[in-house]
Amino acid sequence: MISRNLDNVHSDIRGDIYMHALELEKQGHKILKLNTGNPAAFGFKMPDSIKNRIICDIDKSLGYCDIRGMENARTAIKDYHLSRGIKNISENDIFIGNGVSEASYMIISALIGTGDEVLVPTPCYSLWTNFTFLAGGRAKFYKCDESADWQPDIESIKRGITSNTKAIVLINPNNPTGALYSKEILLEIIDIARKNNLVIISDEIYDRLVLDGEQHIPTASLCDDVTVVTMNGLSKSHCICELRCGWLCVSGDVNRKKILIEGLIKIASVRLCSNALMQLAIGDALKDSAYTENMINETGRLSIQRKAVMEELDKIDGISYVKNIAAFYLFPKLDIKRYGFEDDREFARKLLDDKHILIVPGSGFNCVDKKHFRIVMQPEENILRNAIKDIGDFLKNR
Ligand SMILES: Cc1ncc(COP(=O)(O)O)c(C=O)c1O
Repeated sequence: MISRNLDNVHSDIRGDIYMHALELEKQGHKILKLNTGNPAAFGFKMPDSIKNRIICDIDKSLGYCDIRGMENARTAIKDYHLSRGIKNISENDIFIGNGVSEASYMIISALIGTGDEVLVPTPCYSLWTNFTFLAGGRAKFYKCDESADWQPDIESIKRGITSNTKAIVLINPNNPTGALYSKEILLEIIDIARKNNLVIISDEIYDRLVLDGEQHIPTASLCDDVTVVTMNGLSKSHCICELRCGWLCVSGDVNRKKILIEGLIKIASVRLCSNALMQLAIGDALKDSAYTENMINETGRLSIQRKAVMEELDKIDGISYVKNIAAFYLFPKLDIKRYGFEDDREFARKLLDDKHILIVPGSGFNCVDKKHFRIVMQPEENILRNAIKDIGDFLKNR
């Protein structure tokens, strides 16, 4: 009865283990939900810049707007990307969606049809595989290499290319690994795309959430010929996931861009427009870099919470991890055999039952070794420390 395209679709961040957590909640248990990067749930407040704009302009947001997004908002987005080094873009290259999620549906629907292939990373935030499958396409995985700080493996990308490949997806900074990609790796991927006539889709929603004074490099800032679709939004940098505000920006060769934009206009018109109220706040939000910087500087919550997670993980035998540089996540590896689990899912399920802590097993990100799990480092320091200690106790008592 339901579409065959759903066969491979899975969103384990909100999958069966999550549903089990909701059942436990109904039974009266308090569950610590470390499954989603959902800042508001952990006390991150809406920036005043956004709140004030929404309150002032609410009456202006009631009609349908331009299918691509309001002109002022697209100008603010264009200026933001120009300031980050992306060249030759105009308002017409930008489409605003209800979050990066809808914008990714738009770009995949415009690009991918039955049998087309998209190269996606493993581990991978499942949005990109899911929309590829829903479009009738095939998601093919390339490896990100844990022994090389989770950078994409160039040979694995090359091996994955066939005559059906249309696009390469990059998630940089990465969810779930928290990795930040080097300029050398990005240049190599651009070269592969150039030689094979592929579109690069670069999901950069965490570009402003980079720790340790490191710099994020937008893929599109490194080339002006290859078609790059840069994805970004306010859910994470401004902690307003629920208000649904994201976009895509197409750059590269003018003629190739034109065809893709014609496709995007068709898709955008089908779904009318995105949440207008949020578009009114984009200009103010993108000027408000202080809000995000306060989270990531040395004394900011993200820096402190990451330190707490790492210090507590270091005390647990059989857990190793690559230090994350960006985003909200750490992706540790567990010695599954030593603790007698069948795989990462069994670990996650038993941890939930025993300690009421909800994490996402690595296989939820299509991580093939089934030995990893993702921790969201958003709760306050003491909550995170206690949670990791509980994980340690749980393992010790096996
Ligand atoms: C890599 C990545 N891309 C996109 C999204 C979706 O973002 P949005 O809230 O803008 O739909 C997320 C959300 O967690 C994400 O981690």
